Amino acid sequence: MTVLQPIAETDLSPNDEASRARFEGLVDLLGKPFARGDRYAIFQGDCLDFMSELPDQTIDLSFTSPPYNIGKEYEKIVPIDQYIDWCAKWIGQLHRIATSRGAFVLNVGYVAIEDRARSIPIPYLLWNRIAFFLQQEIVWNYGAGVAARKALSPRNEKLLWYVKDASDYCFNLDDIRDPNVAYPNQKKNGKLRCNTLGKNPSDVWQIAKVTSGANRSSSERTKHPAQFPLDLCDRVIKGFSNKSDLVLDPFAGSGSSLEASALLQRFAIGFEVRKDYCALAAERVRKALSVMPLL
Ligand SMILES: C[S@@+](CC[C@H](N)C(=O)[O-])C[C@H]1O[C@@H](n2cnc3c(N)ncnc32)[C@H](O)[C@@H]1O
Repeated sequence: MTVLQPIAETDLSPNDEASRARFEGLVDLLGKPFARGDRYAIFQGDCLDFMSELPDQTIDLSFTSPPYNIGKEYEKIVPIDQYIDWCAKWIGQLHRIATSRGAFVLNVGYVAIEDRARSIPIPYLLWNRIAFFLQQEIVWNYGAGVAARKALSPRNEKLLWYVKDASDYCFNLDDIRDPNVAYPNQKKNGKLRCNTLGKNPSDVWQIAKVTSGANRSSSERTKHPAQFPLDLCDRVIKGFSNKSDLVLDPFAGSGSSLEASALLQRFAIGFEVRKDYCALAAERVRKALSVMPLL
């Protein structure tokens, strides 16, 4: 099972108190949370309603996976143009509330379009509808998935890393280096060739999906059908935000991004429309923080 290592209190930046004040201010504006803890708050309702309450430039990192319009239990399929318009609307809000060095990491998959595509990457449909600067597309590659018969078995989704300002943004490469280096002791002119912290993890991330099913279910599995793996949350949050930053997940689901953010000493706000998922997320985050008390 994934075990995120909490960050020590002693390792916090002096910004923590200012961020806490910002977090508490936003929570006050949003009304009564479904659940909250010292560094996280979960609100039940439509994310567009909540986001319209948030002032400009208040969120450092938004990280989310929205409904993909593919008929999961938590969504109703709508015509594709309507779906893309809706995405453009909530992403527009995320851009407005992002701080000047803020970022947005969007996880999306594929949709079918009648007579056009069996499976088109959602980013293709959204690319010119987003005010953020597209810094990079990351391919999230995993092993498990459906076995296709008339096409290649799908084994990736995309993470689109957007920033508000292309010349000034948060990127903590050393915090996400991959220690799995083939020749760690190789030298050139007497100096180690590799960074001793590891290599750049590249734009292809091999991270196992949260699986379900008898004998193959991941230990971190909840009842949510589209859960982020904690390893994925860990890398995104460490790489694209700083300790004490404010992280928002407008489609919080089972609370994966909130759990990782709180454990990594960020402040986290999540919106989720379904009460059962809010309850799931609340219990999950509470439990994770209680079994891993901050050092
Ligand atoms: C792909 S899932 C997110 C899963 C999440 N990343 C996790 O790790 O569990 C999308 C979630 O968005 C929620 N949702 C759908 N429409 C919403 C809306 N308008 N506002 C807030 N949440 C919404 C769904 O109920 C669902 O839980």
